[in-house]
Parts: sequence; C-alpha cells; structure tokens
Amino acid sequence: MGDLEAVLDGVVALFNGAPNWGSPLTMCNVSPQSNTAAIIASMLSQVFAPNTLEGEYAWNVHRAELETAGMLGNLLGWDPLATGAIYTYGGGGCFTYGVKYGLTRVLPHSRTRGIRTDAKVICSQQAHYVRQNATDWTGLGMDNVVLVRTDEATNRMDLGHLGEILQELAAKGVPVATVICTMGTTDANAFDPLGEVRALLDQHPNPPGFGKAVLYADAVVGWSWIFFRDYDFEANPLEFSARALLILRRNGQAMAELRHADAVGIDFHKVGWAPYVSSCFLYRDAAEFESIHRRGTDAYLQARTPYNPMYYTLEVSRTASGSLAGWETPGHFGKEGMQAILGESWRPGSISATSSRPPRTWSA
Ligand SMILES: Cc1ncc(COP(=O)(O)O)c(C=O)c1O
Repeated sequence: MGDLEAVLDGVVALFNGAPNWGSPLTMCNVSPQSNTAAIIASMLSQVFAPNTLEGEYAWNVHRAELETAGMLGNLLGWDPLATGAIYTYGGGGCFTYGVKYGLTRVLPHSRTRGIRTDAKVICSQQAHYVRQNATDWTGLGMDNVVLVRTDEATNRMDLGHLGEILQELAAKGVPVATVICTMGTTDANAFDPLGEVRALLDQHPNPPGFGKAVLYADAVVGWSWIFFRDYDFEANPLEFSARALLILRRNGQAMAELRHADAVGIDFHKVGWAPYVSSCFLYRDAAEFESIHRRGTDAYLQARTPYNPMYYTLEVSRTASGSLAGWETPGHFGKEGMQAILGESWRPGSISATSSRPPRTWSA
C-alpha cells in the first residue's frame, strides 16, 4: 500500500504549471474560475456518491436537476413546470442530445431499426466542430451535416441561404432532423437569428411521413446573457457604463430568442462560474422528450420514486457533481449577482468607477 500523504503529494504535483483560470492574465475565453459554493456542492457529490439515474440512488439530490429545469425554464420564458433538464458530459453531450432528439422525433423507427434515411442536420459554418462528433456517434453520418453560410460582418447565419437549403430539401423529399442555432460562437460570440429561423422552419415543414424538425440552440457559451433579457436598461440599477449597456442590451435581446427553441444547451462550466463538468440539456416539452425516448425495463433497479431519468438518458450511472454545481450557482449569485458579474467582466470596474457604493465582492 502507498502512504496516503505520499500518494496525495503525487496527485498535487500533477497540477504543477496548470493554468490559473482566476488570474486576470489568463485570457482564455470560456474557462472562468469556479465559485466556491459550486466547488463544495460538486465535491459533496464525490464524497456521498449519489447516482442520478433513479430516485433511490439519488434521493433529494435529484432536486438539483428538477429545480434547474424550473429555474432555467423560467429564465427562458418557457413554462417551468413543463420544462425538463438532463445534466450530461459537456456542451458536446448537449449537442448530441439535440441531434438525437431530432432523429427520434423525425425518424421514430430509427430507435428500433436504425437510421435508414439520410435526414439532415443543419447548422451554420461557424457552428462548433462537435457537429461532427454528434453526427458520427449517433450513426447519422458526418456527410449529413449541411452548413449554412454566415454573414461576414456578424458571423450570423444567412437566412436567405437557409431558406434555399430548406426549399431544396423539401423539393427532394429529404427530411431535416435538427436545425442548430449557435447562440454565442466560441470566439466571436455571434448569435444566430433564432426567432427568424423558427419562422422559416415553420414555412418549410418536413415531407409527410416524417416528424417535425427539432430546433436546438447551442447556447453553451452565450446562455448567461439571458440574465439581461429583462434588465431595466433605463433605470440601470447596477450602474453599468453607457458603453457596457450597449453590449448588455444587445446580448440580452439576442438571448431572449431562446424561447423559440425546442431545446437549449447550457454550460455552467463556461460563462457560469462552475467547475467542470456542469452541462445542462434543457428541453421545453419534458412530457414529449421523455416519452419518445422512453425505453427499457427496470433490470436490477426498481423505480420506487416518480423521477427516474435512467429510462431516457444516454448515460446509465450519472454523477450529481454537475447538477449540484449548476443548481447552486444561480441560487448563490442570484439574478442580480449574475448581471453584476457579467457586466463587470465586460468592463472591469464599471460599477465601482461610476458608483458611490462600495465595490461588490464575490466568493470566487
Ligand atoms: C459553441 C460551443 N458548443 C459546444 C462546445 C462543446 O462544449 P464542451 O467542451 O463542454 O463539450 C463548445 C466548447 O467550447 C462551444 O464553444
């Protein structure tokens, strides 16, 4: 046996030279320093090891996932009681869930017989490369991704080109499984025009015999601008600078469009100040999503509680470390706290520079 101290020294040594995400000198775009409460919440799951596949193994810890659905549903303007959430293995996992949701809805027989139709996944040229992972691992095939041109100045999806693609596919009788709007591209923070994409999709439904395409919003990077959806820009209670307000208003308005999506990917470990991995796949119609993906029998597990995600998740065992960190973060910061930390990060010192109030401090 190894001596505990020596083993731990070895573990600590592995961190030598690692980046310090909290340093102002670290200019990495999507890795913020984790907040202390989220780290503790997440570590508690390592100690007590709840398994969020079914109620008996997770007990009250399940509330973290269930209440995330309600909180985020409210934030997006969906019906919070109808909203569902699955914490999963990253923004890539959320994207894969988005593709799979479309495949299941549009090609229901694919669940039993396999994918026998070259349905399409449509996203912009700027969409994250995980589009390849998702179409590869679901078995749809990477060649079934159709890329929409983007506008050079804004990096947004070109709606004219999307319309042409939808028209052409409809003329050929080819169904669309999922359309992805990137709501915050990784580097340029570009937002696709989600509301207008929804309107175009409604104008070009899938051919008869296929289900309705799913509209998935990859908001893993940009989601937290939603906190500015209903900020009072006139009264400006947090006293952001005029320059910051322009950006905050624009981003808040762009994210208000999330309400048009069928499902949204949200990474608390990106612009949510939570530790890896705390990704949440959020869907507007939990009853639909959970019933069309329902499978299996209880095997050695018995469902003795009402909440048993093992029947429709990709994973079997699921850690609660992400759901605890994700659920705790908005509770800890509150809506105003998220607004303040985001506004401050846009122009450091903007509150303290213009306010007589003492600067706020955050336990991060
Ligand atoms: C827009 C976008 N989508 C998806 C992902 C994948 O997320 P993850 O790395 O959490 O799997 C990223 C990662 O940076 C991303 O920027």
